[in-house]
Amino acid sequence: MRILSGMRPTGRLHLGNLLGALTNWKNLQEKYECFYMVADLHALTTDYADTREIKRNIREMVIDWLASGIDPKKSTIFIQSQIPEHSELYLLLSMFTPIPWLERCPTYKEQLKEIKGKDLRTYGFLGYPVLQAADILIYKAEVVPVGEDQLPHLELTREIARRFNHLYKDIFPIPQAKLTKVPRFPGIDGRKMSKSYNNCIYLSDSDEVIKEKIEEAITDPARKTLKDKGHPDICTIFNFHQIYNRKNVKDVEARCKKAQIGCRECKRNLANTLASALSDFHRKRKELLENPEKIDKILKEGRKKASSIAKQTLEEVKRVMGI
Ligand code: TRP
Ligand code: SF4
Repeated sequence: MRILSGMRPTGRLHLGNLLGALTNWKNLQEKYECFYMVADLHALTTDYADTREIKRNIREMVIDWLASGIDPKKSTIFIQSQIPEHSELYLLLSMFTPIPWLERCPTYKEQLKEIKGKDLRTYGFLGYPVLQAADILIYKAEVVPVGEDQLPHLELTREIARRFNHLYKDIFPIPQAKLTKVPRFPGIDGRKMSKSYNNCIYLSDSDEVIKEKIEEAITDPARKTLKDKGHPDICTIFNFHQIYNRKNVKDVEARCKKAQIGCRECKRNLANTLASALSDFHRKRKELLENPEKIDKILKEGRKKASSIAKQTLEEVKRVMGI
């Protein structure tokens, strides 16, 4: 079975991205034929006015994918804008996609309201889910691993595929969302880890930087001194222990509650755990940075593979549409 998923190129990835998507992508490689795409055209739908960062962000993100175990021998890794068939299918799908479907889309309504400082009353932004449908359908992907926020787009993709199959010919499988169960993932300030909150631990942060960030994090405010008993359930650091230090989490909890460990030591333990969890990633990342031609080669091969399938599908689409 074939999988397609994508990420907008946001640059360096953080721990939330690792648990939210990458680990899952990595595991899926063993069982599916996977296509992983850098959605740079989707980045343009919101960042069209300032494109200076896009190229560098693509590069940083692909390095993070590879370093975290997305394996070009198993998966096809490519850049959306290098496969023009996505754009052509997007145009063809747009012919029969009703505007109300797009205007009703909850992500559209939300982002129009929430994203400030950008004029999103554009044709391209309204068409975001149609482009995403094209991404998926051009490979006839059957399974699409996504986070919960993407479910409305998947639903639209399914509607568009059904409509195509009904109008012309039944050529598209109706793709299924594969929901990634993400634990509530806090940043160092306790809010959701997000680039826009400036509270991320990046996968590429050095051990030293990770240590500094963790030292800054707020713990249980009731623990003014070592003797004060703690409440791990309200402590961001404990939350991290629950995710990254699962085998010691009972111990951390007990010692915090009985005031047998100080926050400083508790943080140091966490920083060490994170450093060792990321050591493999850091090693691979360093290797890639030293061999940038490797990355070019991987993207070139991905482009070739993706392109040949996309061309076939587009030809078939045009044929059944009668053009
Ligand atoms: N919209 C997705 C996101 O923001 C990225 C994306 C683009 C995507 N095309 C896709 C995800 C196709 C899955 C399938 O996360
Ligand atoms: Fe949080 Fe650890 Fe301090 Fe307890 S000891 S409050 S879990 S940092």
